[in-house]
Amino acid sequence: MDQHGMLFNKIAPYYQWFFNYQVWHYGKIVDQNIHLIDHKNIDTILDIGCGTGAFGYVFKKQGYEVMGIDVAPEMVKRGKNNDLYCETGDISKGLKCKDNSYDMVISAMVAHGLTEDKRVNLYKEARRIADKIVLIQDYKFERNIFVDLIEKVEGGGYFNYIKTGESQINSIFENVVTRNVSRHLNWYISK
Ligand SMILES: C[S@@+](CC[C@H](N)C(=O)[O-])C[C@H]1O[C@@H](n2cnc3c(N)ncnc32)[C@H](O)[C@@H]1O
Repeated sequence: MDQHGMLFNKIAPYYQWFFNYQVWHYGKIVDQNIHLIDHKNIDTILDIGCGTGAFGYVFKKQGYEVMGIDVAPEMVKRGKNNDLYCETGDISKGLKCKDNSYDMVISAMVAHGLTEDKRVNLYKEARRIADKIVLIQDYKFERNIFVDLIEKVEGGGYFNYIKTGESQINSIFENVVTRNVSRHLNWYISK
């Protein structure tokens, strides 16, 4: 596990404090925007970088079969306590899942924190594993003072994400549909 993963492993107990808030916030986003996705053909979902599981949990409550994967064992432990199927896995080493093995791959708030090469790994793994749809929820590709401050503290790849993220996602996926779903967040939908 790299330093970024170790940070999340360490903060997992505190991250869990916000689980109910996250479920509420993500739930609202999903309710308002699920129509953007051709979701009637979707049964199985893989949540990459699931953390404590809030994004996957929202889909599970809507009846989908959800599996979560995260590099941090302490996150996975909490995801399981939150009633999700989860296991450890590292994007940069390749995930154990077979090609096209889930109808949809989702990933919330993971891409912006990764280094450029790991972000490419995330997008490529999502494309490989998804049979129908990839849904990435993450920051818009634009500076915002509030997000800048939070991300300065986290110390991840956010500032690189703002600069190179858009061309990166478009170089890996065809026809990415970008929709603004909250003040700071977009959905990037593709396959
Ligand atoms: C900001 S958290 C988002 C968690 C969750 N998706 C959410 O929205 O609450 C980023 C997550 O990505 C995970 N992560 C970071 N690097 C990873 C990697 N190389 N492979 C898999 N997961 C990774 C972290 O452990 C962390 O749980």
